[in-house]
Amino acid sequence: MQSTTEKRETQLALTWQCPSNIAIVKYWGKRENQIPCNSSLSLTLSNSYTEVKLALQKKETVSPVELDYFFEGQKNEKFSERVAKYMQDNARFFPFLTDYAVRIDSENSFPHSAGIASSASAFGAIALSLYEATYRLENKELDQEFYHVASNLARLGSGSASRSMFANWAEWGKNTLIPGSSDEFAIPVTEIHANFSNMYDAILIVEDEPKKVSSSAGHSLMNNHQYADQRFLQANERTARLAEVLKNGDYAEFIHIAESEALTLHAMMMTSVDYYLLMKPGTLLAIERLLEYRRETGIPVCFTLDAGPNVHVLYPEQYKDKVESFIMNDLQDTYKKVIFDKQGTGPVSVK
Ligand code: DP6
Repeated sequence: MQSTTEKRETQLALTWQCPSNIAIVKYWGKRENQIPCNSSLSLTLSNSYTEVKLALQKKETVSPVELDYFFEGQKNEKFSERVAKYMQDNARFFPFLTDYAVRIDSENSFPHSAGIASSASAFGAIALSLYEATYRLENKELDQEFYHVASNLARLGSGSASRSMFANWAEWGKNTLIPGSSDEFAIPVTEIHANFSNMYDAILIVEDEPKKVSSSAGHSLMNNHQYADQRFLQANERTARLAEVLKNGDYAEFIHIAESEALTLHAMMMTSVDYYLLMKPGTLLAIERLLEYRRETGIPVCFTLDAGPNVHVLYPEQYKDKVESFIMNDLQDTYKKVIFDKQGTGPVSVK
């Protein structure tokens, strides 16, 4: 499936930047075909994104997919194979693959070793770029339907990527209490109280080594997990409750859901048959100090975790200066780096 596109004439070129997102209610456990075991709800970020440059050239072989994939200027065979398989599996969405070879150049805005889960932004940007190529070759203008299908295509690459297609808050997974929700694509959550309309996320990079257990392996441990049914029920209830909280502005309830979700996610890892632990001493130290700081100041700042040791510190804009000086002065010894991010407006097509 690999090819050499360097010397050929480019027929179509386009670029997308797709942000990462941080789940407040977590997706953890999936069925075949990237169908989630429960619904999830996330905040789309702004500064942490992947930029994908896509170029199409006339094909020179008969192989179903000709792909050259570069990550930060280097060929990355392993990820390239995953992307090529993804393109082949979903070729019906990309009819141009019969005539064109694809070159993808992908870069992250965040440091390579930041330990930030990047599959959401990476697959988000790849899905948007490939699907825009389909639109462009059919002379279609980007419309709402485009983002809807792109979310489905992003999901097929990486579940969490489905939620990165939309500004601010997004929900993914069928939930009987959320109209329009689906296991196949994410939807924007648009009824948002002023308290949650300008959220910040400081990502404390506690550890920047690659994870010992990938998210995919983690998801599969939910298949025969003794607490699975209860967990999926809880996550569905919390997704619906969080959608309400985002509407009514209840900070206390938001904090409770966010922090309990983070600890429940890690509790699932620790109670899997093949148990494992991703939190590090710095993770716990940062959490304890943050809880203490909230008790003392009453500032509605809270934490969440993704499938790793890094701590996401969440706070509304009006407390930015105070919380950021707390992070710089009082948490400094708990992390290696900090990335200051905030909620964002979704993917950007770069002209
Ligand atoms: C803990 O989306 O990375 O971040 O579908 O296998 O690519 P795949 O998994 P992925 O899992 C994300 C897990 C999480 C929670 C979340 O983002 O909802």
